[in-house]
Amino acid sequence: MTRVTLIPGDGIGPEVTAVMKDVVAATGVKIEWEVQEAGMHVFERVGELVPASVYESIERNRIALKGPITTPIGKGFRSINVALRKKYDLFACVRPVKSIGVVSSKFSNVDLTIFRENTEDLYMGLEEEVSPDEMRSIKVITRANSRRICVAAFEYALLHQRPKVTVVTKANIMKLSDGLFLDVARDVAKDYPTIKLQEILVDNMCMQLVVKPETFDVIVTENLYGDILSDLCAGLVGGLGFVPGANLGKDMAIFEAVHGSAPDIAGKGIANPTALILTSAMMLRHLGHTKEAAWIEEAVDTVYRDPANFTVDLGGSLGSTAIGLKIIQAMDELKGNAYGQKTVG
Ligand code: NAI
Ligand code: MG
Repeated sequence: MTRVTLIPGDGIGPEVTAVMKDVVAATGVKIEWEVQEAGMHVFERVGELVPASVYESIERNRIALKGPITTPIGKGFRSINVALRKKYDLFACVRPVKSIGVVSSKFSNVDLTIFRENTEDLYMGLEEEVSPDEMRSIKVITRANSRRICVAAFEYALLHQRPKVTVVTKANIMKLSDGLFLDVARDVAKDYPTIKLQEILVDNMCMQLVVKPETFDVIVTENLYGDILSDLCAGLVGGLGFVPGANLGKDMAIFEAVHGSAPDIAGKGIANPTALILTSAMMLRHLGHTKEAAWIEEAVDTVYRDPANFTVDLGGSLGSTAIGLKIIQAMDELKGNAYGQKTVG
């Protein structure tokens, strides 16, 4: 039995986490979830967003699945999400964006993966007040961190037989910082002669993505651009309820969907758990449960081929629990087929 730290988080976190757990259980893979509370409700109780026990659990298990945690805007805490990625050097934020069923009427062939550098850029929180009327944020881009995210993207492209890696920067304006990231990408690309390197500036990339997203394979970019492009790409495939993600380091991984705590819909039972369910499939694959991961992904695709199964965020009527049950049902049918083939073969 594999032990995984489970942080339900706050907002819609606990709702989508509960459904995700049921789906994972239905695959038959035995996961021992070590549940750790973190988020606003914990802060109100103990004065800390993330108690020490959460860190201890992650460090013990080296693998975690996390729901969203609210970060108050403006003054106050730094984002706990950013802090976790930095603390454990989870340098690669990997986000596969794929068309699911008939969810999007605009695009049906999107199949791209974003590699977002996760530890530096403007997210280091190096801000200073020059005067009450002038604030500065310092952007940090280093050769070593740029290199490892570019290598991760090219390795992924090679493994998944994707012909192209697109590097996204604004190197025409930030000639030193983004210039360095682009230089490193060009250098890394030389080691992968079978994969094409495409260079695009971030503003043009936004336009290309909303016009012809199906032309992209693997995208590698800095932290801020990766954050923004992730949400943009989510919009191409049905919204934030559909995009999973992983934060990967050398020997530790924290899996989490792209979306946040969605306070506008929290507690209503209508949050879409699909993103977190697909995130659990990424985790199962990471743990070597390839077949079960594929079951989940196939079941999700099957369910969303029928608009009668659409969730509230898609304009349908299914809430969090109902869509979870549909996915489990579809998976049971797939498993049945798989067993059937086994018997026949
Ligand atoms: P958000 O992702 O929480 O929500 C944006 C919009 O998408 C909202 O209208 C929301 O209702 C909708 N949405 C998001 N996930 C959904 C789902 N699963 N099903 C249906 N609809 C969904 O982004 P927002 O509002 O900017 O941030 C809210 C809070 O979450 C902030 O405190 C932010 O800092 C935090 N956050 C945390 C993240 C994390 O823990 N990894 C990531 C992003 C934001
Ligand atoms: Mg984000």
